[in-house]
Amino acid sequence: MNCLSPSILAADFTRLGEQVSAAEQAGAQYLHFDVMDGCFVPNISFGMPVLSSLRESTNLMLDVHLMIQEPVRYIKEIADCGADIITVHAEACTDLNHAIDMIKERELLAGVALCPATSLTALDYILPRIDMALIMTVNPGLGGQKLIPYTLDKIRDLKKIIDRRGLKTDIEVDGGINFKTLEHVLDAGANIIVSGSAVFDGDVEENTKRLLDIMK
Ligand code: DX5
Ligand code: ZN
Repeated sequence: MNCLSPSILAADFTRLGEQVSAAEQAGAQYLHFDVMDGCFVPNISFGMPVLSSLRESTNLMLDVHLMIQEPVRYIKEIADCGADIITVHAEACTDLNHAIDMIKERELLAGVALCPATSLTALDYILPRIDMALIMTVNPGLGGQKLIPYTLDKIRDLKKIIDRRGLKTDIEVDGGINFKTLEHVLDAGANIIVSGSAVFDGDVEENTKRLLDIMK
């Protein structure tokens, strides 16, 4: 199933609740929540208090993307704040297997993210254990960047691997997805679509509906 995951990194934080409701009303299924630690990526974004507040105000699937070094340190707290999906970066984990265990023990969906230049081989042994693979289509850490074209080949390659192995793993894509690039990532095989600027720049409800229309 195709799902849209608006990334609140691009939201107007003075009107966060209102904008999230607009995306939900328009039919978005997930809400993408980017946690940055100023270490794995240069920026710092937001964390637990914002996540708990959102949990109280929305029924959307909370799709938490941890751009933090050694995320095992925070998985318990993030889960307690009401995350539905927790995605960790393969590059940020000394023990990726343990991170996946911690997510699955809490009966949440587990995702593993790869930066654009990280090879798909990093997923070889853990693919059957995870629910979602997040292929970063830009370098993580900043919204509003341009999609890196070679990541389309990477999505295509991953889709082939998943099908060949008879798995049902979701492929999420994140970074530079807009009204133009959306059809390219869908064609390549992605089914969970993160979009920040394209949703939150302008009329959120209208943008969400337009993106969902392309995804039908
Ligand atoms: C980038 C973040 C993205 C970001 C996407 O590091 O992981 O989720 O918000 O923003 P856009 O869609 O504007 O590229
Ligand atoms: Zn993200």
